[in-house]
Amino acid sequence: MPQTLRLLPDETDRAAEILRGGGLVAFPTETVYGLGADATNDRAVAEIFAAKNRPTFNPLIVHVSDLVAARELAGFNATALALANAFWPGPLTLVLPLKPESGIAPLVTAGLNTIAIRVPNHPLAQNLLAATRRPVAAPSANRSGRISPTSAEHVLAGLNGRIAAVLDGGPCPIGLESTILGLTPQPTLLRPGGVPAEKIEALLNHPLATHKGAINAPGQLASHYAPNAPIRLNAQNPKPNESYLGFGPGPATLNLSKSSDLTEAAANLFGHLHALDALQKPIAVAPIPQSGLGRAINDRLTRAAAPKNASPASSWS
Ligand code: TXA
Ligand code: MG
Repeated sequence: MPQTLRLLPDETDRAAEILRGGGLVAFPTETVYGLGADATNDRAVAEIFAAKNRPTFNPLIVHVSDLVAARELAGFNATALALANAFWPGPLTLVLPLKPESGIAPLVTAGLNTIAIRVPNHPLAQNLLAATRRPVAAPSANRSGRISPTSAEHVLAGLNGRIAAVLDGGPCPIGLESTILGLTPQPTLLRPGGVPAEKIEALLNHPLATHKGAINAPGQLASHYAPNAPIRLNAQNPKPNESYLGFGPGPATLNLSKSSDLTEAAANLFGHLHALDALQKPIAVAPIPQSGLGRAINDRLTRAAAPKNASPASSWS
């Protein structure tokens, strides 16, 4: 990829066009810079994981303009509405039940039936979301394992040449990620952040539950999506009773990528697993190379193939 474009605030429409065309754009929020992609575009979302070099498919936060847009994607109970009204726009992310008709790419939620949503309070993020007119999935705009970026320079230091553009809004005013609150349905603090827990407790009028050890990567603790069907990995061919999830040329019930393209395979992974699971047969999966996005694909397939009920952290899916 050529050098990453550095766009100025008055070029926000251009950034929106890149997002609408399936490109990656880093943009400022009041917390940290996000690495954005159209959340309804499987392939664009897969590119996020490739650009960050993420070895696992952690679910991503979806950014929208306002509560009206958020309610098209997730179910809000009275508590969720009260929190949104009190803290949005602002540094609070709510994890809510995903609406099946949301149109969100399955890779965004890593196949979970919950979605993390927030309405950022930064004028450029707001302008970008308004111009894009799509929900924007965005993790922090750093390479995997590095600290979150709070300036366009930080973003470029890690991602130059790996993403189409960065919208430069100067330093982020808060500089610390959003607070993540699970609401499915018990209010649970999943990650402390920009909104102090005390403020949330004051609004709810009771102390928040915390998810033990969930502080750094809450998505990793959620019971990850696993099909009901048994899964057999590294299968060159299906047995007669099995469906076959292919990779590369050759016959298959469904193919992750006939052209052996790992980005395409990542984009198809959760959708294909759901579809094969519905067939109610054991699933055999073709070997996937252990390189680039293949590592994240294999990580998720290995979890899906692990014996069921092995995970202690299954309290909220
Ligand atoms: O301030 C922020 O939150 C920034 C800006 C860009 O919005 N974003 C951010 O994203 O920090 P990221 O990907 O670095 O962290 C998102 C966290 C991850 O730990 C992920 O596991 C969790 O949110 N998450 C996302 N969806 C989830 C879900 N459905 N259930 C549980 N955790 C979820
Ligand atoms: Mg991060």
